[in-house]
Amino acid sequence: MTMTETNHELRVSKIRSGTVIDHVRGGQALNVLAILGIDGADGEEVSVGMNVPSDRFARKDIVKVEGRELSQDEVDVLSLIAPDATINIVRDYEVVEKHRVERPDSVEGVLSCPNANCITTGSEPVVSRFTVLEDAVRCAYCETIVRDDIAAHIDT
Ligand code: CTP
Ligand code: ZN
Repeated sequence: MTMTETNHELRVSKIRSGTVIDHVRGGQALNVLAILGIDGADGEEVSVGMNVPSDRFARKDIVKVEGRELSQDEVDVLSLIAPDATINIVRDYEVVEKHRVERPDSVEGVLSCPNANCITTGSEPVVSRFTVLEDAVRCAYCETIVRDDIAAHIDT
């Protein structure tokens, strides 16, 4: 690739150290920020690209967070809405670690069940647990399936 092409493609500047969440499904960047608890109010330095051209998909979102590395729990939740994401750890401008997110078999305490009669939504303190399926999640207690808009059910 020529220098010119590279410069044309660099829409969001490089970060010094932190995390680049790349290959996020187009349209999910704001949900990624919500999962990470980032709303800008704490002065976090964050760059977001939405619906940028990608070689792997037609369009992708990308989120770059300066000065922060993600916990495994955060990556697990991200995998639910951005199953093809790549997590790049950057130190001193270099990508020092790169890995694809992996969908966990189940997630505990991160999603709320949409079923008002589910034991996890009652007043008893029962922590939610969802089995992660190919393209959906299923409540381990009442078997309600959440397929669309999983992000709307994330407890943050
Ligand atoms: N990146 C960044 N700041 C840096 C280094 C990299 O924002 N200091 C970003 C790049 O812009 C890219 C992502 O981190 O979006 C991954 O960087 P790199 O591995 O260099 O790019 P690719 O080889 O294109 O990644 P992949 O093969 O995962 O698509
Ligand atoms: Zn339930």
